[in-house]
This record gives sequence, C-alpha cells and structure tokens, in this order.
Amino acid sequence: MAARVLVVHASKLGSTAEIAKTIGDVIAAAGASVDVLSVREVRSVDGYDAVILGSALYAAHWQSTAGKFLARYRAALATKALWVFSSGPLDARLAATNLPITAHALELLGGLQYRDHRTFGGKLAADAPVDPQVLKTHPVGDFRNWAAVHDWAVAIAKALSEG
Ligand SMILES: Cc1cc2nc3c(=O)[nH]c(=O)nc-3n(C[C@H](O)[C@H](O)[C@H](O)COP(=O)(O)O)c2cc1C
Repeated sequence: MAARVLVVHASKLGSTAEIAKTIGDVIAAAGASVDVLSVREVRSVDGYDAVILGSALYAAHWQSTAGKFLARYRAALATKALWVFSSGPLDARLAATNLPITAHALELLGGLQYRDHRTFGGKLAADAPVDPQVLKTHPVGDFRNWAAVHDWAVAIAKALSEG
C-alpha cells in the first residue's frame, strides 16, 4: 500500500511552506499519499506512516509553533518515521553547506528519533512584512536551493518505498 505522509511546516513569511509543498509534490509523484499542512492546521497525525516537519529559523530558533506541534503529538510521532528540516540561511555559501541542526531544534525534538535533517537556504523578500530595519540588516533575496530540496525529497520517497 502507498505510504501515507504528512509534510508539516512552521513558516512565518511563507517560504518554508513553499519548501514543504515542493517536498510533498515530489513524494506524491513517487506514489505516496501526501498531505501538506501548516502546524496550525494539523488536528491529528493518526493514519500517517511518516511525518516530515520543517521550520523556519529566526535568531537560531525554530518557530514556537513547531515546538507546540512536537509537544502535542510527541507520543504518536515516536511511532512514525520522522524527517525534519530547517530553512533559513540568507547566504548562498551557507545555504549550500547543509548546516547542522540547531541546539534549539534539538531541544524541541526532546530526544525524538528522526531519520535525517537538512538545512535549506531561506528567502527574505524586499517587500516582506517586517520591520524596515530588518531589511537593512539582513540579506534580501531567495537563497532556496530547489535542487537540494528535490534531491532530499527523492531520498525520502526512496526510503519510504523500501519500508
Ligand atoms: C529577523 C530575522 C532573523 C533571522 N534569523 C535567522 C537565523 O538565525 N538563522 C537562519 O538561518 N536564518 C535566519 N533568518 C532567515 C529566515 O529563516 C528566512 O528568511 C526564512 O526563509 C524564513 O522562512 P519563512 O518565510 O517560512 O518565515 C532570519 C530572518 C529574519 C527576518
């Protein structure tokens, strides 16, 4: 039977949600049954074989909503195949290096076992609804590496098909 997969994102300005959507599309194209939801939309994780959780990074922290999702569904998540990703670096070189998971994300995961973690480059649009000072102090641009996102999703789809 096709794997049932939940791709869930904690995104503030939308760019992490777009990464989640791309991951979901790739895994669905490989034959799985996929839902892509924001952490706020999830009402249950029952019925999913695998969960892929991604959060945007702000000041080296995952979104608090990612923490709430993990706290709420911890027991169920412990029984599923779990993958996690972070999105953030606004720097082409850093975005290409797959930075290790942050201490804060590990704290929120609280020992939950996950199959793999990736850090993808982020995006800050010139018209982002943020304090104008933020736009002066952070690099504006789209540093998401879609090839890296695609390859990671293909690897997950392969792992799911192998059981
Ligand atoms: C105020 C601010 C702080 C940020 N801090 C970090 C950070 O600590 N590490 C990082 O990798 N990216 C950081 N970023 C970049 C964001 O993670 C990036 O813009 C990401 O794509 C946002 O995701 P979202 O659109 O889903 O909210 C920061 C961006 C802003 C505006």
